[in-house]
Amino acid sequence: MPVTKAVLPVAGLGTRFLPVTKAIPKEMLPIADRPCLEYIVAEAVEAGITDLIFVTAAGKGAMEDYFHRSIALEEHLERVGKLDMAKEVRRVGELGTVVTVRQEQALGLGHAVLMGAPATGGEDFAVFLGDDIIDAKVPAIQQLLDVHAEKGGSVVALMDVPREETNRYGICAGEMLRPGLMHVSGMVEKPDPADAPSTYSIVGRYVLSGEIMQILTTTPRGKGGEIQLTDAIAVLADRGEVFGLEFEGDRFDTGNVVGLLCASIHFTLKRPDLAPAMRAALAEFR
Ligand code: UTP
Repeated sequence: MPVTKAVLPVAGLGTRFLPVTKAIPKEMLPIADRPCLEYIVAEAVEAGITDLIFVTAAGKGAMEDYFHRSIALEEHLERVGKLDMAKEVRRVGELGTVVTVRQEQALGLGHAVLMGAPATGGEDFAVFLGDDIIDAKVPAIQQLLDVHAEKGGSVVALMDVPREETNRYGICAGEMLRPGLMHVSGMVEKPDPADAPSTYSIVGRYVLSGEIMQILTTTPRGKGGEIQLTDAIAVLADRGEVFGLEFEGDRFDTGNVVGLLCASIHFTLKRPDLAPAMRAALAEFR
């Protein structure tokens, strides 16, 4: 059965981006002229995902508005002759079917994913973290879906990180089945570099077995007092049902200021309408 549903947990507090996140969700901060989240939604849609389940919180209504149609705005733009802009506004509102569920308390990523359970209906589903943007020829989630179709089980996206940074990620242990594909035997959340079982970190793309929702209902609070998604995936890894794929593509951590700026420069340089002015502006920096 093809995977058509995705859970997008976007209820976090975004403390690394304060003070702006006091009023604007970090997922709505712009990369060039569109919010971070649009790049993620576009990746999902390109890979055949039709149902986008946003896990949101108070103050995050802007995301919902953005991905729904605004007929009044479209009609206004048409009336004043801005037809291209009207088309663009409409395109964004029609990217996918958006369902919104609330996470009343930021109890962690695992808890946020669990809030999507009524909408995933027991099916296998994809998860996209709102602050990981991946630019790739084949969408990163498609690369994971291909492994899921081949091996079954659950698949996590892997990135080889410098050892001194293992304490910022969930780290996997396991056996390499072929270059870039790991059969994951265990995972540990944010280990100290000295204790890390490898330098393969999990980044924000997953294809998860529907069974994970049941596991999450009994997952106790872990690191930082939060219900960790990694702890629930580790239960599946214990059974040999998790694979890790070192995806191909450029990944940007847009949850921090410099990461967002790098993503903005990267995508602006790929836009024919913006690249010449961006190159000229960059040449002025010392
Ligand atoms: P982060 O670890 O980046 O947390 O969450 P955060 O709160 O968004 O940001 P910082 O670290 O305080 O700056 C990874 C993803 O999981 C979501 C976040 O919205 C983000 O997309 N998340 C995290 C939730 O939806 N709920 C939570 O309880 C925690």
